[in-house]
Amino acid sequence: MASFMDKIIIFDTTLRDGEQAPGASLNPAEKLEIAHALVDLGVDVIEAGFPISSRGDLESVKEIARSVKGTVICALARAVKGDIDAAYEAVRHAKRPRIHVFLATSKIHMQHKFKKTEDEVLRLAVESVKYAKKFCADIDFSPEDTTRTERKFLFKILKEVIAAGATTVNIPDTVGYTEPDEYADLVCAVKENVPNIHKAVISVHCHNDLGLAVANSLAAIKSGARQVECTVNGIGERAGNASLEEIVMALRTRKDIYKGFNTSIVTANIYKTSRLVSKLTGFAVAPNKAIVGGNAFRHESGIHQDGVLKERSTYEIMRPEDVGFSGSGIVLGKHSGRHALKERLKELGFKLSDGEVARINTRFKELADKKKNIFDDDLISVVQDEIKLVEPVWILLGFEINSGTKINPSAKVDLKYKNNISSAQSNGDGPVDACFKAIDKATGVKGELQDYRIEAVTKGKDALGEVILKLKAKGKVVTARGSSTDIIEASVRAYINALNKIESL
Ligand code: KIV
Ligand code: ZN
Repeated sequence: MASFMDKIIIFDTTLRDGEQAPGASLNPAEKLEIAHALVDLGVDVIEAGFPISSRGDLESVKEIARSVKGTVICALARAVKGDIDAAYEAVRHAKRPRIHVFLATSKIHMQHKFKKTEDEVLRLAVESVKYAKKFCADIDFSPEDTTRTERKFLFKILKEVIAAGATTVNIPDTVGYTEPDEYADLVCAVKENVPNIHKAVISVHCHNDLGLAVANSLAAIKSGARQVECTVNGIGERAGNASLEEIVMALRTRKDIYKGFNTSIVTANIYKTSRLVSKLTGFAVAPNKAIVGGNAFRHESGIHQDGVLKERSTYEIMRPEDVGFSGSGIVLGKHSGRHALKERLKELGFKLSDGEVARINTRFKELADKKKNIFDDDLISVVQDEIKLVEPVWILLGFEINSGTKINPSAKVDLKYKNNISSAQSNGDGPVDACFKAIDKATGVKGELQDYRIEAVTKGKDALGEVILKLKAKGKVVTARGSSTDIIEASVRAYINALNKIESL
């Protein structure tokens, strides 16, 4: 099994395979925000996108490659020159660029998708790896649908692409079809039958169609895989990809089984990264989701609560703080000073400038006037609401609503735009609708609401409400959020945040 301190390379594909999840479109500013969060999380490789898929994706990968430091930045390409050119154009400014070339190798794909023989596929694979290698030393090659590929052909193609310069060979379970024993055996077979395999890192990439993506990835690690491709919250095509946080915490929690394996993930940053990805993609995390679900560390039954109070390890195999989850821990209140706030923000893993802390402090004081106890989740929400990578052009000065069962709801909003005040009034189907229509009038931008969701950040009647909405305006679609103890204010903030994002694109 593992030799002493075997490093497992965490290849995060949240921004590529994760973003392929139906309904999860991220704009460039959101992708950049996630990329920075992934660096703080400690991932080794960020697969930032699939540049040939659109000009926007290319630009977004380019921006990440230029400004995100500390990880390998990877771009995906089919085994086609144009794709590889686009991938290289996107990652060339990264300090450590990588190109990930993929080509289907299973009979079912070769026959039905592109009607090619094994020889033709082999030639294309080798040519494309050689072509990519001219630009970039670090090449990842994926024989798509490996788990349904004839083994003899797989060994041959892996040997040839390694000889052509691939430094990582991936074994994707594209359709989530394999199971742990079979997948572990496949990795062993690759090690035994590909003579030059020692020249490349074996990578795994599992989809979750049978709910086995994490189990399969772990089985592969035991057999010799040293790179795992995964996503935050397990988002991705169809049923998603292997979840980063589950793999990392399994390796860490069961050190007795995964002896000697380690990752560079800062586990205390897992929870806030999960929340960020959830908010920006608009995908809620199921309460029972392992590691990052809202209930993952909550004990409801009396017997469990009693046990945990006597000795945590009776019912807790991980400490919530290890993943940055503080649950209902009261952290701050009205009388907490700026220093305590700053310290707590630091403990939560936020690296903020003094100016940013001052802004958070203002929001914190406003919140503390309305809400007795401020929990970590409240703070995370305020920070993610307040600290934006884009400079806001529209700033909320205030709003008023008039609503009730017997009146036609109306709203007035006051906004600031480049030192000018713009106010407008409108009626609507409800107070939120009236506010949105008033904002449209005040900004002169017509927004089309595509999705709208409210969540309580913490428990209790005075809980902070968080609104996550998807807005289309000026031909662009963005997801934005806003938080407040008042759900109308949270909605107004989210709507204005969305308009600011649109202005920045
Ligand atoms: O699932 C898959 O096969 C992929 C490849 C591009 C690696 O996402
Ligand atoms: Zn995939």
